[in-house]
Amino acid sequence: MTWQAFNVPFLKGGIISDYKESENLKEMVENKKIFILAALSNNKIVGAVRYKSTANGQNIYLFRLAVLKFYRYMGIGSKLVKRVEKITKKLGYKKIKLDCVLEKGLFPYYKKLGYRVYNIKKHDDHYDVFMYKRVNSFKK
Ligand SMILES: CC(C)(COP(=O)(O)OP(=O)(O)OC[C@H]1O[C@@H](n2cnc3c(N)ncnc32)[C@H](O)[C@@H]1OP(=O)(O)O)[C@@H](O)C(=O)NCCC(=O)NCCS
Repeated sequence: MTWQAFNVPFLKGGIISDYKESENLKEMVENKKIFILAALSNNKIVGAVRYKSTANGQNIYLFRLAVLKFYRYMGIGSKLVKRVEKITKKLGYKKIKLDCVLEKGLFPYYKKLGYRVYNIKKHDDHYDVFMYKRVNSFKK
């Protein structure tokens, strides 16, 4: 599902190959290294987000947020992010961290959801924007 949702070419360099499912995903999920939340419509997965604890164990890293094209702009993406926020708070983590490709135009999306920029990295063909949100700034 995430592969389909991410399969939108936006750069000549083709970031897409990075989005192919890693072979050990199943193992990571089974060993609780990665968690996946799915949004369902009529028993079909139409959106998903992944999250995991960061290396220092203090924060949650949110990644691979994706909603199938037909289901976008209905609030599904935001609901998935908010659900991760709820879990993050419940588990006692301090922040949620995420990153997005500047050229994909999602920086305003996360900003609207309350995420702040703490770093920007320049690559040959794109910029990565690193963002965070503190648990104590989560709205109920
Ligand atoms: C990013 C994505 C998950 C958003 O999902 P969604 O369900 O359409 O988002 P929502 O409906 O919750 O959008 C909430 C708000 O953000 C806005 N928004 C949605 N997509 C946006 C975008 N690409 N750029 C800027 N704003 C956006 C909506 O207009 C909406 O605003 P409103 O509350 O004022 O109406 C979806 O566009 C997607 O799957 N993109 C491809 C995968 C991807 O790039 N993921 C991000 C990885 S960092």
